[in-house]
Amino acid sequence: MKLLYINSNPKPMEQSYGLRLGRHFLNELSDQNSNIEIETINLYEENIPFIDADVLDAWGKLAAGQELSPSQVEKTTRMSEILEQFLSADMYVFNTPMWNLSYPPMLKAYIDNIVMAGKTFAYTEKGPAGLLAGKTAVHIQSRGGVYSEGPAQAFEFTNGYLQGVMAFIGITDYHHIFAEGMAALPDRAEEILAEAREKASGLAKELASAKRNA
Ligand SMILES: Cc1cc2nc3c(=O)[nH]c(=O)nc-3n(C[C@H](O)[C@H](O)[C@H](O)COP(=O)(O)O)c2cc1C
Repeated sequence: MKLLYINSNPKPMEQSYGLRLGRHFLNELSDQNSNIEIETINLYEENIPFIDADVLDAWGKLAAGQELSPSQVEKTTRMSEILEQFLSADMYVFNTPMWNLSYPPMLKAYIDNIVMAGKTFAYTEKGPAGLLAGKTAVHIQSRGGVYSEGPAQAFEFTNGYLQGVMAFIGITDYHHIFAEGMAALPDRAEEILAEAREKASGLAKELASAKRNA
């Protein structure tokens, strides 16, 4: 069982609620199921190509059987590596901080590397169909405000988007753990984190057991 930990937070762990929560979740999961091999991709430390004019042109050339420029070879080779690494995993843990009602741009760049026709979804007569059924995704996020209830609920675009992308590629076994209100309720931040850690422990137990019996 391979778990890919996709970290889009550039902070050091000790300065990040979300990274501390993510570390706790992974530790609990490993304690419960020693067959889970964890591979980490730190999106701010890796070369994650953007879909730019060069890449779009490269895709056109590939479709037409034309030769790519050296930079196009480099970018498309790296994009294939990222996609193959993603495909090789059985389970994904996305760690994202909420930034300006969204998540860090490196995560969008990463998503643009893994949503690929013929690899993670296919066009069928009935419309697009996800190809990664049976895999599991977990979203861990720390947020300054509260979005799961109350007036800011309508501004929750991060988890909804990630869940939508996962469903699009066939991953419907999707879970989330939020530590929210960290900036709005600073006096309660450590308590909120402790509650989120409890939830993370429960989810780790549930998933470790499900994967053991899979
Ligand atoms: C650039 C930036 C933008 C932010 N934008 C939001 C936001 O739109 N909504 C929110 O609730 N919190 C926002 N925050 C607060 C973070 O979500 C909060 O500090 C959270 O704990 C970050 O996760 P971390 O502690 O794991 O780094 C922002 C923080 C930064 C640095």
